Amino acid sequence: HSADAYRTDLMTITRFVLNEQSKHPESRGDFTILLSHIVLGCKFVCTAVNKAGLAKLIGLAGETNIQGEEQKKLDVLSNEVFIKALVSSGRTCILVSEEDEDAIIVEPSKRGKYCVVFDPLDGSSNIDCGVSIGTIFGIYTLADVREPTVEDVLLPGKKMVAAGYCMYGSSCTLVLSTGAGVNGFTLDPSLGEFILTLPDIKIPKKGKIYSVNEGNAKNWDGPTAAYVEKCKFPEDGSSPKSLRYIGSMVADVHRTLLYGGIFLYPGDKKNPNGKLRVLYEVFPMSFLMEQAGGQSFTGKERALDLVPTKLHERSPIFLGSYDDVEEIKALYAAEG
Ligand code: AHG
Ligand code: MN
Ligand code: MN
Ligand code: MN
Repeated sequence: HSADAYRTDLMTITRFVLNEQSKHPESRGDFTILLSHIVLGCKFVCTAVNKAGLAKLIGLAGETNIQGEEQKKLDVLSNEVFIKALVSSGRTCILVSEEDEDAIIVEPSKRGKYCVVFDPLDGSSNIDCGVSIGTIFGIYTLADVREPTVEDVLLPGKKMVAAGYCMYGSSCTLVLSTGAGVNGFTLDPSLGEFILTLPDIKIPKKGKIYSVNEGNAKNWDGPTAAYVEKCKFPEDGSSPKSLRYIGSMVADVHRTLLYGGIFLYPGDKKNPNGKLRVLYEVFPMSFLMEQAGGQSFTGKERALDLVPTKLHERSPIFLGSYDDVEEIKALYAAEG
């Protein structure tokens, strides 16, 4: 339809999700309410990130988290914002955050059926130099919310009902899947609304980019080393892949989703389980990749089949274009 129609037919994320919900007659709008609170948190962090340099929000908060990382002020601020937004939605019963050692069990009067696992600020090491950072979240529905315990959230990623991320970069982009494909929304600051800008994202079947921290090459295992070698010195005469590594998972995954290619954070001799956390980094990004036609592999199995045993468990991850991940799966299979 005409450009005018496009300008007036504003497909906001709320309207989009309501349309999705209308396909589930049994839903009572709980998910829409939950999502609106996640969106509120993203809008808040977006403004905080944009004025971090001005508002003295960069630098360290002087505390260390369960990961043994020095928390940045924005790590702490965004964590508090999301916890408050999620609890006040009245639709959650368990929250798991990268920044909190223990799961947060929501007080009974404010409980709902959803469990949200999230990384409030991903790519913290990039805050002070102005490189894109983000928020990552995954959503489970819990059957029995009477007495929620940590065990209730140690579920495989394939049980997630939704997952997404918000990237705070040149624009604020929220990418979401509720299990029926992937859609991207860009924040229009003049409206304070996320508008549909990337409908029905599909990742290219094969890409020309590989994304890994080559600084860890000394400790890689055979299949990972062989795969990266293949990217750089292809035997079949094809041209080498380009290396793009930003160091914020959200930014590296967003580029992979749109341009194709493969993102890897392998395990190595020093860290056999790699660095990325299963519940709130590996699962949400793997969920999105599969929904967009790509795939995600741990070196041993389909990432979404993994059953975590600890809240902050880590796993190696190889995700992106379907054909690219197939190649690394073959190398791990050959290793036996
Ligand atoms: P976070 O800032 O939430 O702790 O996550 C950082 C992660 C992820 O964003 C990124 O892919 C990875 O750390 C980069 O790790 P290296 O610096 O070891 O490459
Ligand atoms: Mn961290
Ligand atoms: Mn992270
Ligand atoms: Mn983080």
